[in-house]
Amino acid sequence: MSNENNDTVTVGEIEFPPRKVWLKTYGCQMNYHDTERILSHLSGLNFTQTTEQSEADLVIFNTCAVRDLANQKFYSHLGETKRLKTNPEINPETGLKKNVIVAAGGCIAQTEGKDLVKKYQQLDFAFGTDVIDNIGEMVYRAYAGDKKFSVTSWDRSENYSIETKITHGSPMAYVNIIKGCDKFCSYCIVPFTRGREKSRGLSEVVTDVKRLVEYSGIQEVMLLGQNVNSYGKDNGESLAQLIHELESIDGLQRLRYTTSHPYDVSDELIEAHATSKKLANHLHLPVQSGSNSVLQRMLREYTIEHYLGLLAKMRKANPEMVVTTDIIAGFPNETEEEHQDTLKLLDAAQFDFIYAYTYSSRKGTKAARMSDILTDDIRGRRLREIQDKQMKIQENIRQGMIGKTFRILVEEKGTNKGVIKWTGRTSCNRIVHFEPDNLDKDYKWHWVDVEITSATALSTQASLIRDLGKKL
Ligand code: SAH
Ligand code: SF4
Ligand code: F3S
Repeated sequence: MSNENNDTVTVGEIEFPPRKVWLKTYGCQMNYHDTERILSHLSGLNFTQTTEQSEADLVIFNTCAVRDLANQKFYSHLGETKRLKTNPEINPETGLKKNVIVAAGGCIAQTEGKDLVKKYQQLDFAFGTDVIDNIGEMVYRAYAGDKKFSVTSWDRSENYSIETKITHGSPMAYVNIIKGCDKFCSYCIVPFTRGREKSRGLSEVVTDVKRLVEYSGIQEVMLLGQNVNSYGKDNGESLAQLIHELESIDGLQRLRYTTSHPYDVSDELIEAHATSKKLANHLHLPVQSGSNSVLQRMLREYTIEHYLGLLAKMRKANPEMVVTTDIIAGFPNETEEEHQDTLKLLDAAQFDFIYAYTYSSRKGTKAARMSDILTDDIRGRRLREIQDKQMKIQENIRQGMIGKTFRILVEEKGTNKGVIKWTGRTSCNRIVHFEPDNLDKDYKWHWVDVEITSATALSTQASLIRDLGKKL
């Protein structure tokens, strides 16, 4: 690659003038992190990001297939891009009609890539979840005139080895430690869209995080995977071991991980929550249902008794632990009694927050082949009952925070009813808003101590106690 003049980059036989890429990400943190990798690779081809689709030379959708709603949103957004081809904008620099390239990656593209490219005229290419790091080559191919292709191959190499790429200026970084999922829960599409589990080596992750802390000013790291607590199984390593090693990195202040499966929560991991000074007081532990018979049909491999036992152990090891979860309302043929068991679980577990969704049938999964007498109305009603009950529990828990002090990392400024407030996140992952003592001061990425003054189920207000600045 050579930089001929200040503006144009030549790669192989093609000149890449400065161009804009517009990206839309759907789904989970893994996808958001993949988008970051895409951006980082594209900067080598002279692309910078724009938030205005009309300014874009390249449009990329990073898709999610976990529920039908996610698919529908993407299809509709992709449909809207037809006009970029039929009625292109004029390039202000050249005065010529823009030749916008449209691409779709991620989980829908992994399983439907070929069909998407065939069905949507405006779609130039599709790429799956395991070829993210080849995005530069694909964009090159598209600019070389090769259109309408789909790359959805799996990376067959034995090791999963990458370097974390970040493009933002924040002190928080996502770090992938394991990809794929081997669990095959009966309702879930992820094992089909993300392939088999593969972990990065422990020493590689430690070197990676050290580098991020030393050279990119990273202070908080979120270890990522569909199943982070399966981490290291293929290499004889473990998440608890990794946390222990990362703990000793000077300058790293906070460590988080997501998402965990209850089957794999080890005693060592629970112990780490008791002893680690840096591990966040937060565990996202998706339970999915409060009924043992439904959990069995979901192929979740644990019982509610086991799950509640884990929560008790965690809370005993660290009384500050805050637990959040995911719940699916209306799994095929869920009875009223089974649904009531989920409502009972909310009382017993005292979750701080839940992500609850109605069941969505995913083609190719075991649950999609089960008989199912439930209607959308029943599912909707059950979801509302779950959410209403949780709101009351949550409000109660949050009220208990009043008068307590928390250390937060400030993320952004906003206004609430005309009052300027800054917003940050506690170690236990609760979002807190506080009023600054000086309206002109920039608190972004400062560590501050705050005292909670009021709380509702969804929002927590605080007063500023002290500003500790950007480095602890
Ligand atoms: N790996 C994570 C979750 C990945 S998907 C885990 O096992 O916990 C995120 C959430 O989407 C799941 O926890 C589940 O609650 C929800 N989900 C997955 N498939 C779904 C489906 N078919 N219908 C509704 N919700 C689903
Ligand atoms: Fe899906 Fe289950 Fe894997 Fe989570 S553990 S990604 S819910 S199959
Ligand atoms: Fe969606 Fe794929 Fe994540 S299906 S939830 S983007 S792994």
